[in-house]
Amino acid sequence: MASYEDEDHTQDYLFKIVLIGDSAVGKSNLLARFARDEFYSNSKSTIGVEFQTQKMDIDGKEVKAQIWDTAGQERFRAVTSAYYRGALGPWWCMISAGVRLLIASADGLMNSTVRAVTCLLTHSDMNVVTILVGNKTDLQDAREVGTDEGKALAEAHSLFFMETSALDSSNVKAAFETVVKEIY
Ligand code: GTP
Ligand code: MG
Repeated sequence: MASYEDEDHTQDYLFKIVLIGDSAVGKSNLLARFARDEFYSNSKSTIGVEFQTQKMDIDGKEVKAQIWDTAGQERFRAVTSAYYRGALGPWWCMISAGVRLLIASADGLMNSTVRAVTCLLTHSDMNVVTILVGNKTDLQDAREVGTDEGKALAEAHSLFFMETSALDSSNVKAAFETVVKEIY
């Protein structure tokens, strides 16, 4: 259980969630939907890493999640991996459990997963809970990877699995809550 003293000196819980995955799969929009109930049909690609702290209600208890939204674009990879290294320093001492959400659109699922799993192995920690998320379920006509296929891939790497849509909100809250509940 992660704990720290906040400004009010009350005991609180802080979980770290990192969004990893290929560019344009919808990581920033999943966060926008989850944190602010917003969606951007023309969102700009993330540069480096953006942070957001979000309160969550888990089993009637308030916890805080610090969410790291990373850039999926290749040219930022050196920057984002530097942040991971930082995460394993002082941050990691403060937070004894962390969560990573792997985000993949149906069409980029395989590519994303292979790279993200490699990333996890490189920066792995015993307390990391991971969910593979297939986003953009609203685009059913464009779907290239079936639910069973995604599920099987997640199982092969011992990851949780969920399909979401940042556009119509389905499963977005559930995806974030699944990983936090698992380590709470
Ligand atoms: P990087 O920051 O470059 O790594 O990309 P990202 O993964 O953060 O993607 P982003 O959230 O910026 O979304 C990319 C595009 O996909 C945008 O045009 C979004 O509007 C769109 N998008 C994101 N989520 C969904 C979704 O669930 N359904 C649909 N139809 N479009 C989505
Ligand atoms: Mg982004």
